[in-house]
Amino acid sequence: MRLNQLTLVAALAAAFPLSTIAADAPAAPAQKPWLDRSLSADKRAELAVKAMTREEKLRWVFGYFGTAFPPKTTKPIDGAIPFSAGFVPGNPRLGLPDLLETDAGIGVATQNTPKPRERTALPSGIATASTWDPQIAYAGGAMIGSEARLSGFNVMLAGGVNLMRDPRNGRNFEYAGEDPLLAGTMVGHAVKGIESNHVISTVKHFALNDQETGRNEHDVRIDKAASRMSDLLAMQLALEQSDAGSVMCSYNRVYGTYACENDYLLNEVLKKDWGFKGYVMSDWGATHSTVQAANNGLDRQSGQEFDKSPYFGGALEEAVKNGYVSEARLDDMATRIVRAMFAKGVVDNPVQQGGNIDFAKNGAVSRATAEEGIVLLKNDNKVLPLSKDVKTIAVIGGHADVGVLSGGGSSQVYPVGGNAVPGLEPKVWPGPVVYYPSSPLRNIQALAPNAKVVYDDGTDPARAARVAAQADVALVFATQWIGEANDATSLALPDNQDTLIDNVAGANPRTVVVLETGGPVAMPWVAKTPAVLEAWYPGTSGGEAIARVLFGAVNPSGHLPATFPASEQQLPRPKLDGDPKQPEQRFTVDYKEGAAVGYKWFDQKGLTPLFPFGHGLSYTTFSYSGLASQVKDGRLHVRFKVTNTGNVAGKDVPQVYVSPLAAKWEAPKRLAGWDKVALQPGESKEVDVVVEPRILGMFDEKSKTWRIAKGKYKLVLAEDGAGKNATSVTVDLPASTLDVRGRLRK
Ligand code: BGC
Repeated sequence: MRLNQLTLVAALAAAFPLSTIAADAPAAPAQKPWLDRSLSADKRAELAVKAMTREEKLRWVFGYFGTAFPPKTTKPIDGAIPFSAGFVPGNPRLGLPDLLETDAGIGVATQNTPKPRERTALPSGIATASTWDPQIAYAGGAMIGSEARLSGFNVMLAGGVNLMRDPRNGRNFEYAGEDPLLAGTMVGHAVKGIESNHVISTVKHFALNDQETGRNEHDVRIDKAASRMSDLLAMQLALEQSDAGSVMCSYNRVYGTYACENDYLLNEVLKKDWGFKGYVMSDWGATHSTVQAANNGLDRQSGQEFDKSPYFGGALEEAVKNGYVSEARLDDMATRIVRAMFAKGVVDNPVQQGGNIDFAKNGAVSRATAEEGIVLLKNDNKVLPLSKDVKTIAVIGGHADVGVLSGGGSSQVYPVGGNAVPGLEPKVWPGPVVYYPSSPLRNIQALAPNAKVVYDDGTDPARAARVAAQADVALVFATQWIGEANDATSLALPDNQDTLIDNVAGANPRTVVVLETGGPVAMPWVAKTPAVLEAWYPGTSGGEAIARVLFGAVNPSGHLPATFPASEQQLPRPKLDGDPKQPEQRFTVDYKEGAAVGYKWFDQKGLTPLFPFGHGLSYTTFSYSGLASQVKDGRLHVRFKVTNTGNVAGKDVPQVYVSPLAAKWEAPKRLAGWDKVALQPGESKEVDVVVEPRILGMFDEKSKTWRIAKGKYKLVLAEDGAGKNATSVTVDLPASTLDVRGRLRK
């Protein structure tokens, strides 16, 4: 809704100003002791807030959209970076800078304008999760955080970690899949990487915003303990591993109350139970009240233009004056914000616009992420890797002649070189549809210089089949564009692409399907195609990454962070709740499956998916030996040896699953840990996986503890969630209790 309004003022697009990088912040003068870097962030925040007038404190808790928002505003607030997400004026009197906010998780985004800033985009969040490599997630975060800093931003609204409860969720591409341990770890590392640039990041969208349909109104119900073991655990782990400066509360209601005024979520779970010391910012348009929101834990209203009222403006001032919100609570709100600014180095390392970005270097980070995140789903008869000597290659569909797809909405990053396929629908929010100009076709041709490579756009399946019949191998590129605020209407690929693939596969038995999708899709043609590659949205170097995997310059090592269902009928909700045509209607989404999300649901119901969680093939093979476990310093260690038994180098993702033999869990097994191991042919490595203790317990909401039941547990080491290459061992665990933060109680 919001950005098509923005196109009305597109003509106002300002040129991106260039200047030089800032020098260091000034040393602390005696009258500004909070600028003394030797003091703790807590102390500095305390001193700074003490020096503020009430009016000054109030300014920190009231955020603006960084872009004009007609009809409410026809030009952006002074000081905001053009076409940015957010702005909060700083306090020059106290030496505290503005907060300059940009989306989001794959890079520095631009709100819709014909003149966007051009930046490096990582592959989608789900692609990063598919790498199963926290170091890759960190490196990607560090790269996009550096671009944020060089673009003048000191807050990045990244850190999306909503669990994939439904493969049709329109924002799955921004998140990290269905498992709380994997998602929390990967997103936690990405956020840590961003913050290594002295840029505050968020963890979002807190909480349970797991579908876009009716996102502003729907009301989530879920057993509290189950949410602590699923969605909330992912957020908790991401926060622990990143120490994020901020959390963004979500649009939806939970237990009848909007997330941004929800005492249980904000005060009890986040601030009290988890000890979160940062600040809670609302999502843009997610604030609904003044007194209730402030008292129930919201620290800042964001993008106030999106809300019905400037709730944290004059109304909050009045509420404080009249005692409905205490002065102490206002102090707490301001303290949390400036504390994050001190803790993350935002005050001591001022940003300026116009820094020099090394696009070649950053493109390599994006490419490395794509190469590790692309998942080889199927490879019968070793159709892949392609030989360099192949004579004719038919490349079909997906605009593979010019680029690779990206996902839509507020997180949209615009590439250097511009949109490779301009003009596609939807052109307005959550569009435009953007293809990054990294051409798979050109990169394929570069890797097979002697081959004849022909392209067919795939719009006529019969013609494409004729082209495929003439070639040694046919590569069909299939796309699913998805964007924020819209869920996919089904798991089917749009635009007749299933027919296209079916026809091409019928004409050429050596057909390889390359998918560029936001999340899982159905594959009615899968039995006919010997090879399938899931490339997700592969970022600004995606075409190169895809080509390198196809030809074996890179051995694929991505594994699915989410189950690919055989059909919607297998899902907890075969039909999504709510009506996309009536977004303002309130309805309940009852997550009856509780903590049995994704593969846990499939296991519990005995369903066979199309491709299981954790699945991913390689051009080599691996074997496991010497599986053993040991409890050391209160932690369960799982040790084993991985060997590359094939004849090319590759990376394996050995996965440890745990199943209780006596205790009762929400599902037969949980992912307990993994590693990503690079091995030369014939090489072996010893691996030690340390199990996160919360994964072994059940949460008890009454006592707020995690209870690990005494008894036997089976540890399964496998190459995927379906038990490929599985070997197992049984361990006896004593009863133990962990506190709400997962620490062993003596
Ligand atoms: C999204 C957030 C985003 C914000 C600011 C909202 O529409 O839900 O994820 O950070 O806009 O652009």
